[in-house]
Amino acid sequence: MVLAENLMKIIDGKRYAQTILGSVKHQLQELSTAAHQPKLAVVVVGDNPASKTYVAKKRQACAAAGLLSQVHEFPTNVTTAQVARCLDELSQDESVHGILVQLPLPEHLCGLTLIQQICPLKDVDGLTAWNQGRLDLNLGGLFPCTPLGCMYLAQQYFDELAGVNATVIGNSPLVGSPMSRMLLAAGATVTTLHSQSRNKIEHTRAADLVVVATGHGHLVDHRWLKSDAVVLDVGISWAHGKMRGDVNREDLSQFEGYITPVPGGVGPMTIAMLLKNCMHAYQHLCLATPLAGPLESF
Ligand code: GUN
Repeated sequence: MVLAENLMKIIDGKRYAQTILGSVKHQLQELSTAAHQPKLAVVVVGDNPASKTYVAKKRQACAAAGLLSQVHEFPTNVTTAQVARCLDELSQDESVHGILVQLPLPEHLCGLTLIQQICPLKDVDGLTAWNQGRLDLNLGGLFPCTPLGCMYLAQQYFDELAGVNATVIGNSPLVGSPMSRMLLAAGATVTTLHSQSRNKIEHTRAADLVVVATGHGHLVDHRWLKSDAVVLDVGISWAHGKMRGDVNREDLSQFEGYITPVPGGVGPMTIAMLLKNCMHAYQHLCLATPLAGPLESF
């Protein structure tokens, strides 16, 4: 019997993330003083189990790298005004350097509007209008962690991103939209697909780089991909008690390109970039180091 050879190559996000976290830890050892230790504040609303798991992972990574972290928890029925007050207080608290609101928020809180309450210089998710505008203008700021992690990975597999045909599936403010804008800033030719796009497969089959961030489990199969593409799978969903990505890797027997697994691909990179953003925010606030542009932030 001839066993089918698995041709695809797995991108080990955990390994890249460890390298980044190691360098953040090393830099923080040199930067932190007794008077100033970098601190991340995380705001969590409700009891979404996935959010709790992600926040625990973020805090573990902070502790391992030498960053302080604190969590502010609110019940699901909290009012917009109560969360806004908390964000105001954290924005003014000189002992806090990074603030993030774990998403998704309950529907009665308008997440993106609330987030505008965060001081942009502490906005380590890069979701304030100030930071989103700085991304568009290619100016220094704080930028969303998942796309930063994807840019880091993409750079490992292309000599240069200029001229690469990239297709991003998804256009959310946290991932798809900033991803497309970062790739464009790097000189890629970018197609952004969203729920109303027609003939999606036509676009993805032409792409050298595909970033898929829809949360629609196993949306992408072999028909969607050029056989030598680089594929970054950001999606996370659950089926039969197992975490899965937006790409059905079991259907890719003829695929010879590179792909991130779920779990262990883009997820660890998001956390590594969050810590990097916290370090940048701390350096800017306490040491007056200029904030880097979107292509120098990772
Ligand atoms: N929920 C899922 N991913 C993220 C993220 O990167 N940041 C925040 N704040 N919430 C999330």
